[in-house]
Amino acid sequence: MAFNYISAAEAASLIKHGYNVGLSGFTPAGTAKAVTAELAKIAEAEHAKGNPFQVGIFTGASTGDSCDGVLSRAKAIRYRAPYTTNPDFRKAVNNGEIAYNDIHLSQMAQEVRYGFMGNVDIAVIEACEVTEDGKIYLTAAGGISPTIARLAPKIIIELNAAHSKAAMGLHDVYEPLDPPCRREIPIYKPSDRIGLPYIQVDPKKIVGIVETNWPDEARSFTAPDPVTDQIGQRVADFLAADMKRGIIPSTFLPLQSGVGNIANAVLGALGRDKTIPAFEMYTEVLQDAVVDLIRQGRVKFGSTCSLTVTNQCLNGIYDDIEFFKDKLVLRPSEISNNPEIVRRLGIISINTAIEADIYGNVNSTHIGGTKMMNGIGGSGDFTRNAYISIFTCPSVAKEGKISAIVPMVSHHDHTEHDVNIIVTEQGVADLRGKGPKERAQAIIENCAHPDYKQLLWDYLKLTDGKSQTPHAVKAALALHAELAKSGDMRNVDWGQFK
Ligand code: COA
Repeated sequence: MAFNYISAAEAASLIKHGYNVGLSGFTPAGTAKAVTAELAKIAEAEHAKGNPFQVGIFTGASTGDSCDGVLSRAKAIRYRAPYTTNPDFRKAVNNGEIAYNDIHLSQMAQEVRYGFMGNVDIAVIEACEVTEDGKIYLTAAGGISPTIARLAPKIIIELNAAHSKAAMGLHDVYEPLDPPCRREIPIYKPSDRIGLPYIQVDPKKIVGIVETNWPDEARSFTAPDPVTDQIGQRVADFLAADMKRGIIPSTFLPLQSGVGNIANAVLGALGRDKTIPAFEMYTEVLQDAVVDLIRQGRVKFGSTCSLTVTNQCLNGIYDDIEFFKDKLVLRPSEISNNPEIVRRLGIISINTAIEADIYGNVNSTHIGGTKMMNGIGGSGDFTRNAYISIFTCPSVAKEGKISAIVPMVSHHDHTEHDVNIIVTEQGVADLRGKGPKERAQAIIENCAHPDYKQLLWDYLKLTDGKSQTPHAVKAALALHAELAKSGDMRNVDWGQFK
């Protein structure tokens, strides 16, 4: 059938106040851009006339400024799930303007299917190709596109020439059945392909195609710094040692690693350590460092939900697609992050904490216990089900005024039951096989910054020292209270709790 080619503004006008809009993408990779940018203009115009105009946003993970940024600034988002990283969105959430549902990324597609969030009224999907019989070829991310494309009665395609058609073979599109009919997901190694390279829809649902040429709004990395490099090296050394003593098989195990500079430093260090054999990734985001390691033969295969890489790196993959096509696969987020597969493959997960407490509980999402940073992302999907779960972070933040190791986390994302290893630039705390009191010793001794070590030992003296998890409940959040009061956790006075 012949499609209706329309402008981004015409496409946006199909989205009405109160709609739930399903979006392609996962991180700024593969997200819709042109239609959401126009939607923000419609919202502003309606607000200027005194009319309400807000939508719900269902997507894979974070997006770029042309989605979360412009829509937040236009006050056009009523509800959104899941993860985001946009600073304006963050401001709006922490001002109470948006209902933000921060769920595990693996659960997003199924919660939409189960109807937990209401209907998907329209889907906007970025593609590098669409065929007249309704085959949609995604760009740099899987996200929740298969689910929203199936559920939405109307689909808008952003046909983006900035993505090469070389992306066409990268995807493995697979959607599990829902209970009680769900079966095992038949992935037994990271390179297994179990689905189709495209999403099949009824072409009649495609109400418009918007042609664009809009590169992904990729984040750039700041220059490596000594702290992240040291953390990266410590993780690599720890894993090499675990392999040497036979805890990790000599073939090594697939890795998951998060976004950001620490993740890049970890991968860089693992790549350099030739005692570790070439390994595979089963992860949700794949960054530049991994692409380099694939080229060097240090990473044998990368299974991911998105290519969260710089545009230069992405174009390099497209240019060299003959080399990459049997070394990369892009999956929907409910498959890339699926707990069943994480546990089956024995994945080693490496994620970043905002803070960790002396017993191994981790806060990945909230500053000071109340303000949203980004969200839990896929860290929970991987951590709870990993063969070995690792959290990394610098031991202090804000020039030392904040300790990342605290008596009690101000918000819980990953509990002591799920966290195996904590790594800061100071050292490594191996929590496996330890009770809480032993864990506290390991974390304070190995991970806390020297400015905070004695403060944390002194905190323990306020407790009975005997209980399963000794705490002085009135003092447990005193470092956070001190930060709010004086701006520096180091000023805490434990005397007030004696
Ligand atoms: N208290 C207050 N602020 C803190 C803090 C703490 N304990 N620890 C860090 N910060 C601040 C930093 O100072 C920095 O502030 P700035 O933006 O004003 O400079 C900011 O938080 C980000 O810290 P940074 O050290 O730059 O970390 P990052 O960019 O590596 O991000 C997370 C860290 C935890 C926010 C990020 O990894 C995340 O969102 N994680 C959850 C999702 C996830 O794990 N996904 C998994 C796979 S992708």
